[in-house]
Amino acid sequence: MHALSICESPLDLAVILPSYNERENIAVVVQRLTDALQGLHWEAIFVDDDSPDGTAEAIAAYARTHPHIRLLHRIGRRGLSSACIEGIMATQAPCVAVMDADGQHDETILPQMLAQLRRDALDIVVGTRHAEGGSMGDFSRRRVLLSQVGKRVSSAVCRCELTDPMSGFFLMRRSFVMEVVHDLQCVGFKILVDLLASARRPVRMGEVGYTFRARQQGESKLNVVVGIEYLSLIVSKLTGNLLPMQLTLFLLVGGVGLITHFTTLLLLLRFTHLHFVADQLISTFVAMMENFLLNNLITYRDRRLQGTRMMTGAARFILFCTFGAWANVVFAQALLQGGLEFYLASFAGILLGSVWNLSISSLLTWRIMASAHIPTQPETAMDSVALSATR
Ligand code: GDD
Ligand code: MN
Repeated sequence: MHALSICESPLDLAVILPSYNERENIAVVVQRLTDALQGLHWEAIFVDDDSPDGTAEAIAAYARTHPHIRLLHRIGRRGLSSACIEGIMATQAPCVAVMDADGQHDETILPQMLAQLRRDALDIVVGTRHAEGGSMGDFSRRRVLLSQVGKRVSSAVCRCELTDPMSGFFLMRRSFVMEVVHDLQCVGFKILVDLLASARRPVRMGEVGYTFRARQQGESKLNVVVGIEYLSLIVSKLTGNLLPMQLTLFLLVGGVGLITHFTTLLLLLRFTHLHFVADQLISTFVAMMENFLLNNLITYRDRRLQGTRMMTGAARFILFCTFGAWANVVFAQALLQGGLEFYLASFAGILLGSVWNLSISSLLTWRIMASAHIPTQPETAMDSVALSATR
């Protein structure tokens, strides 16, 4: 009977807030955003990875009564970067800001960031801790140093000069994200570097300074795995995405496994009088277990198996790898009998086993184990963007 009427107040801005174990911070963040964004048409999308502390429930309580507070509740997923991207994909606001859900970022500069983006026709405005008016707050010296190292490394891949590429607080045009979204790695913490390094043209960028606040509740999720992920992001960007992050991480873990294998082999050869086949078997098993644990910890962090699923995952991994290991040992043995040095024979065996491990075992262990966990209701299915956005 009548055409859809055009909304009288289209959105100016969507604020995307990734959250993991931030239950105690939600009320403060919502209140501060509400105060800071008066006069604008905005929505906030919290993207929560099913935090064990019940953060999603705290957000849902607001979402039920405030239409501009939304919750995207992801099941069986982890990851700051992918959470941000899925949040952005769930809104049609022309401008999107990414901000921590722990109250550490200063939301009062958001209107200024938006005004600057519009006035100067920029792609992105970064909230920075180094620009004029910005400060690292009470950061430990170690954190400041880490941040500086990260900044040096990032200048190798970004198509622009930035004072704070490590920032997790920025505002951009959604159209800019759409330009680069298919080239993003989406793994790890450094979504800003990922976005900037994926641009195929110079990025028009601005900066607004702010002081990084101290955390009041909860704890930081930044750890050594995040650092390793960041370096693999840089490698994949330097190779023009030829080496995707997961492959880089897998190769890294494989490299560590190789060292473990040889160390065990040498120790066995030196201190026991077992047959070479037994030595190769034991070393392969040790490296295999280490491989499973490291891949579960780093490479497949976003779908990490825990508790009993980790046990069954390990059992599966070993079962699948056994074929690879068998081929490895038989091949190495044949080469040894053919007159090859033991280390060359062993290396060739490992190479054969690794290809199998990379292609089949990992796929079957993490992909299938993870998808076996997909709940049947479409609202909570994994792997699809913004399926469970609740208004
Ligand atoms: N959904 C989701 N999934 N959110 C996550 C995850 C995750 O796996 N890991 C962390 N978060 C959320 C946290 O709940 C928080 O709201 C935000 O992402 C940042 O995580 P923090 O653990 O608080 O990081 P930080 O304060 O140490 O680091 C911040 O500063 C860095 C600069 O030094 C972040 O803003 C980084 O992005 C930034 O680079
Ligand atoms: Mn934080």
